[in-house]
Amino acid sequence: MKKILGILGSPRKGGNSETLTERVLVCAGERGAMTDVIRLQGLKLSGCIDCRKCWSRGSPCVIDDDMGKVHDRIREADVLVFASPLYWYTWSSQMKPVWDRFLPFLHDEAGWDLKGKKAVLVATAGDDKPDAFNGMVFSFRTSCELLGLDHMEPLLAHGVYEAGDVNRGKWLEMAVKTGRSL
Ligand SMILES: Cc1cc2nc3c(=O)[nH]c(=O)nc-3n(C[C@H](O)[C@H](O)[C@H](O)COP(=O)(O)O)c2cc1C
Repeated sequence: MKKILGILGSPRKGGNSETLTERVLVCAGERGAMTDVIRLQGLKLSGCIDCRKCWSRGSPCVIDDDMGKVHDRIREADVLVFASPLYWYTWSSQMKPVWDRFLPFLHDEAGWDLKGKKAVLVATAGDDKPDAFNGMVFSFRTSCELLGLDHMEPLLAHGVYEAGDVNRGKWLEMAVKTGRSL
């Protein structure tokens, strides 16, 4: 059975990114996938410290924090749903360490990697202009290509600032389509 992991990068419970991700996962579940969610807020996640010691202790990273658990969940999944609000036109600070700490998966001697998994970006922004996401989308697509992740059409909800704004307009309908496509 296909395993789909939602990685929630918003600190806001019940916020727009979470609402969209839930809809994506419910619809994917209705198609027979096994779904799961990891909430990054509250986990101890450091950025990469560029120590160049990836894999030196057997695991991807030597930093002793909660990323090991995140890596384990990611390893088990076939599809990764990266859900992040746009913060200063890029990733939230909860999501950024996850990308930093994918560095071990570029190593020639990696014990395992992300190649062949599918990835989809679910992002939300207060800005009314869809091009507000350009920086984040460039980061997502380029990073997926480097890591061998197969990236799918992103779900980018603009003009949603207050929690619950995503319930208005076309966004939930688009989330249904995304979920069915996974
Ligand atoms: C620290 C911070 C930075 C933000 N930066 C941006 C931004 O650069 N562009 C934008 O359109 N919205 C920005 N926003 C608004 C959020 O992207 C928006 O409220 C989003 O819906 C939050 O998603 P959530 O409910 O999943 O947390 C920012 C919000 C915060 C708290």
